[in-house]
Amino acid sequence: MKTETTIQGLTASLSPAKAARKIIGFVPTMGNLHEGHLNLVREARKLCDVVVVSIFVNPIQFGPNEDFDNYPRTLERDQQLLADVGCDIVFAPTVEQMYGNQPRLTNISVNNITDDLCGAQRPGHFDGVAVVVTKLFNMVQPNFAFFGQKDYQQLAVIRQFVRDLNIPLEVIGVPITRAADGLALSSRNGYLSPEHREIAPVIYQSLQTAAQQLTSGTALSDALNTIRATLTDAGFVVDYVEARSPELQKVDSFNQDVVLFVAAKIGKTRLIDNLQVKFTAS
Ligand code: PAF
Repeated sequence: MKTETTIQGLTASLSPAKAARKIIGFVPTMGNLHEGHLNLVREARKLCDVVVVSIFVNPIQFGPNEDFDNYPRTLERDQQLLADVGCDIVFAPTVEQMYGNQPRLTNISVNNITDDLCGAQRPGHFDGVAVVVTKLFNMVQPNFAFFGQKDYQQLAVIRQFVRDLNIPLEVIGVPITRAADGLALSSRNGYLSPEHREIAPVIYQSLQTAAQQLTSGTALSDALNTIRATLTDAGFVVDYVEARSPELQKVDSFNQDVVLFVAAKIGKTRLIDNLQVKFTAS
């Protein structure tokens, strides 16, 4: 496995694979890797000849009061984990390498599906994701790119601009990887105190309970209220509890497949999760 820190180095490392028309798989990450990321790499390994993983904590997707400075940077450990799962090239550029010294005057803004959920809570976040992911796509020029379904709205945003801008690659969404107690894996779980880590699985438990309620006839608004109450009782501060169609359109009853979304803070740590509930007409 090679690590490249410059765009030139990346291009040079990829050129034999490109010349041989190998299938290139790409997993963009911000590092501090966990099993969720490694599962993305494993999926890429199954479908592709060459697997590239980027590690870049992208400043322009963090709000002014978010955790950019403190975001965990664990490059050596990440490299070891990636070597073990068969990654071929790690791309770990500096901020300067990615953004240069000239002002950036171009933005990529996906409308409508970014208006609410995390988009409403984190102004500019998805623009920052769209810009960095587009830049990385242009640098790597992969055939397939892999993203986790935990960041469901992010995945929808990426699918949308890839389609709208005719970016020539296929986006693959990979199911959420969970800890044994159900907590969706996230680099931000590392911020949790032992006490908060014990409470954190309540998010997934409340989603599962709501899914059961919906399939046994409880009204959607009641199921969402139960999630809110359960989280508040457990000590969370709820950012949002919402239901959407799989395409992120508003829904007001459970008469089609829905995705339940939660964002909630425990202490200072903001966690998100989602669960798709299938509708079967009876
Ligand atoms: O999901 C992430 O880790 C980041 O948002 C991504 C896609 C790597 C862009 O910085």
